[in-house]
Amino acid sequence: MKKMGCNEIRKAFSDFFESKEHYIGKSSSLIPKNDKSLLLINSGMAPLKNYFSGVEVPPKNRMSTVQKCIRTGDIENVGKTARHGTFFEMMGNFSFGDYFKEDAIKWAWEFVTEHLHIPEEKIWVTVYLDDDEARDLWLKHTSIPAERIVRLGKDDNFWEIGLGPCGPCSEMYYDRGEEYGCGSPDCKPGCDCDRYLEFWNLVFTQFDRQEDGSYPALEHKNIDTGMGLERMGCIMQDVDNIFEVDTIRAIIDEIEKISGVKYGEDHNKDVSIRIITDHIRATSFMIA
Ligand code: ALA
Repeated sequence: MKKMGCNEIRKAFSDFFESKEHYIGKSSSLIPKNDKSLLLINSGMAPLKNYFSGVEVPPKNRMSTVQKCIRTGDIENVGKTARHGTFFEMMGNFSFGDYFKEDAIKWAWEFVTEHLHIPEEKIWVTVYLDDDEARDLWLKHTSIPAERIVRLGKDDNFWEIGLGPCGPCSEMYYDRGEEYGCGSPDCKPGCDCDRYLEFWNLVFTQFDRQEDGSYPALEHKNIDTGMGLERMGCIMQDVDNIFEVDTIRAIIDEIEKISGVKYGEDHNKDVSIRIITDHIRATSFMIA
């Protein structure tokens, strides 16, 4: 696997989906427009909800973006785990009533194995409980064996946030090796430890969550995917956590200078430095 910088990964993603005839859109602001169900944009699909529901017409029925996102749901884990941050960039490809599960799965596999050159044996996938269709497509179009396909429930494999478009999903994980694991015999994708790093979520957006809690079907089926740029950087650069990737590490260096504390010597201080790094990124982008 060749080392890739975060700027290279971002470009490779957009170039790949441009070659698959996607319209390459710009990141929207972190402040949602006309969406009272969200305080901040938290995913690539959030600013595109009206394209999924058919309220607005997209520039093209397949689209790709790299979206600035803020998520605070896991704020207590920031700095402590290798993978949590409040601010991150989400690379995504979207279909508004155009392609569905088969192409989404085929292209995800193609990009990861042929463009990022991630070794196939390091990849695991999850599918929603009874989504045999997704499982069969992974088996048909990729070299993933059945033992590396894990079924997970609604908490992990059903995407919904706020109201509107949502649906079951299938996620790709990278096995970072036993040394990152918790040692439990049940350790596999979905485990809370840092061994299996989820890097790409493919959502099969079919439903439209309503205020009354019901899930009517959307008029057409859609695709919404999200790959965390910093997580992918962590994999491609073989660094310990998302704050040590090439484009973020400079912030840690500056904090070392200002605080006089050396990163990498004391676990608790490292956690603090990572939290400061995360919050500087999040607040800078929110202000911008
Ligand atoms: N909307 C999906 C997510 O953010 C892709 O995980």
